[in-house]
Amino acid sequence: GAASKGDYRHYMLKEIFEQPTVIEAALEGRLSAKSVLVESFGPDALALFKRTRQVHIIACGTSYHAGLVARYWLERYAGVPVQVEVASEYRYRHPVVPEGTLFVTLSQSGETADTLAALRFAKTLDYIGSLAICNVPGSSLVRESDITLMTRAGPEIGVASTKAFTTQLVALMLLTLSVSKAKDQAEYPDIIAALHTLPEVCQRVLALDSQIEILSQAFAEKHHALFLGRGAHYPIALEGALKLKEISYIHAEAYPAGELKHGPLALVDSEMPVISVAPNDDLLEKLKSNLQEVRARGGQLFVFADESVGIDAQEDIRVLTLPHVHEALAPLLYTLPLQLLSYHVAVLKGTDVDQPRNLAKSVTVE
Ligand code: AGP
Repeated sequence: GAASKGDYRHYMLKEIFEQPTVIEAALEGRLSAKSVLVESFGPDALALFKRTRQVHIIACGTSYHAGLVARYWLERYAGVPVQVEVASEYRYRHPVVPEGTLFVTLSQSGETADTLAALRFAKTLDYIGSLAICNVPGSSLVRESDITLMTRAGPEIGVASTKAFTTQLVALMLLTLSVSKAKDQAEYPDIIAALHTLPEVCQRVLALDSQIEILSQAFAEKHHALFLGRGAHYPIALEGALKLKEISYIHAEAYPAGELKHGPLALVDSEMPVISVAPNDDLLEKLKSNLQEVRARGGQLFVFADESVGIDAQEDIRVLTLPHVHEALAPLLYTLPLQLLSYHVAVLKGTDVDQPRNLAKSVTVE
């Protein structure tokens, strides 16, 4: 059943490998061959999205990272300005809500105390409406929001969120496409075609598992790691660092690669593993020069790269090549090897992968 480990050693590994299936479920009935079905968000969504002039996204932890990716997407593909904030900060500020602002919460559980409190607080402000993107039907967040979209990831038992995150990203791409369509803007048939092939491409990335397991050996004795990304892959670097911290207890930090020179480069020496995601996008050349800065300080580079980017493995650079995917969907795809990397490091370290110390699956108290 959905809540048993089957042949997997841990729930987390099972949930990582379920991603092609649950991503397909998250897309089911929500896209035609060339167009997104805006009514997937409910009968009131079209009118609400037409009126949407900006978006405020509120969440915690991994769900917050999904929100950060959505900012890049909504701004680039729907032309809508976005603010993203962690719920525990938002709820204690005095947010200014411009006219036509949609309030969006993201949550696996739908019961995270700060996110729920943020929604209740937002209802006292001048938003045009609230949307919850959530994995648990009937949760408090779902019951209390104006419109909802379920992520359909199925029960997630591992404390470290994996399939809940990638299905949130699918939902957020559907939101991006829906807002654009509702406003009579572009419909992006190229992204829609890429979404249809995404489960299969994810499957090909998961097939790299044994190579990632080999890479993980380089981390087991480390105390620190640095994750780099640019653009929509900066939040993916944040998510990679959070996974490593949570389950392997290795101190990990993520930076937008362009910030290296502004401080973190001082941390880089031959003991520091630096993990970077290098999809083939318009920031590739900039990223490559950031990686040279790391090499020049003797840092050990681990690069997850698009098959077409031409970064070759060398003594001080280990490269894992990923299949090509539409650049809009690359953040989703590049999440998978980072999940597997943390998983294998944690197993090597012998930690309690599914139930890391000090953490609860859902944080229902402040
Ligand atoms: C992720 O690996 C975490 N354990 C945690 O950050 C989680 O994403 C956060 O607590 C939010 O939970 P939610 O999505 O259920 O609201």
